[in-house]
Amino acid sequence: MNYPNFPKDCRSLLCKYLTKEVFELLKDKKTANSFTLEQAIKSGVENIDSGIGVYAGDKESYSLFAPLFDPIIKEYHGFNREDSHKSNLNIDDLNISNPDPKGEFILSTRIRVGRNIDNMPLGTIISKEQRKEVERDVVKALKNLDKDLKGDYYPLLGMSKETQNRLIKEHFLFKEGDRFLESAGLNCDFPDGRGIYHNKDKTFLVWVNEEDQLRIISMQKGGDIKEIFSRLVKAIKSMEKSLKFSYSNHLGYITSCPTNLGTAMRASVHIALPNLSKDMKKFKEITDKYHLQIRGVHGEHSQSEGGVYDISNRRRLGVTEVEAVLDMYNGVLALIGVERGFYNIKGKK
Ligand code: ADP
Ligand code: ARG
Repeated sequence: MNYPNFPKDCRSLLCKYLTKEVFELLKDKKTANSFTLEQAIKSGVENIDSGIGVYAGDKESYSLFAPLFDPIIKEYHGFNREDSHKSNLNIDDLNISNPDPKGEFILSTRIRVGRNIDNMPLGTIISKEQRKEVERDVVKALKNLDKDLKGDYYPLLGMSKETQNRLIKEHFLFKEGDRFLESAGLNCDFPDGRGIYHNKDKTFLVWVNEEDQLRIISMQKGGDIKEIFSRLVKAIKSMEKSLKFSYSNHLGYITSCPTNLGTAMRASVHIALPNLSKDMKKFKEITDKYHLQIRGVHGEHSQSEGGVYDISNRRRLGVTEVEAVLDMYNGVLALIGVERGFYNIKGKK
């Protein structure tokens, strides 16, 4: 493999940190699962508009290819090589109330974590048989959930296109054919081994074998963040009784993309900000100040519709789960304050 040819306007962190020296140092290395540098960078090389551009094949990828992953992790999360990650899933430490009790701005709230099974290769290089084994083990663990977490598993294989598209449109299911995942090997044998579990009300969901082997999701209409966090924590704790998740003291929960390491948590609101979003400079100033990420209403790489945005915590590593939720909460309070100001100035309230 030769050093990739990045175009001049390439802005990915891969392009920034894969210097010729780093490339020479890593190009012949292989993890115990035979994951190579070429595989790690394939998505960013094929998709030059990537923001990040790298994926891992297993836990060892993060140490073996550290000269590439470390600076990317530092720039994304502000987390240094010497730092260690701390988890805090204690719901009593999250002392917040609904930031929008009258339901004027927040349409819905969703908190998800990514998880992968300990001692399994990640989805980028997992075999078809191993993927099925993960699916079997996860489905078995899900059968133990009770009360409001009780639900059913729906494999993608055999699901009608109509149902699949409805679930995607209603924000419950992952999209099909993401080109970043495709290049990373994460769509191999699709839809085999993939599926979605959900309770009756679709307030608790689990995606199986998408970008990570599990995405555990709690969501509902409105802005009761604490209730949503509590449901998620209850589910994680219950699933941990029968599944061992891949974790490192340094990097927290191991995920296929370095942006998800640590808490692997994305806490988001769908929020209507029709006025503030007319001034993108001011909007971005606030989101940067509170470490927030702006996405469109249909998730990553989608556009806003009608002034509604997906606002979430950006940092996931080096902050605890409680702190990650607080990043989102504090930022959302600030955004609502400014949006309300616009309303008042324009006499619309
Ligand atoms: P992920 O959250 O797993 O990183 P995406 O950004 O692609 O991935 O979002 C997955 C789905 O979750 C999308 O359909 C998105 O619209 C939906 N979603 C995210 N946040 C919310 C929210 N607060 N309310 C409702 N749906 C949401
Ligand atoms: N690989 C894509 C990029 O670099 C996505 C990165 C973050 N998102 C994710 N779903 N892991 O732009």
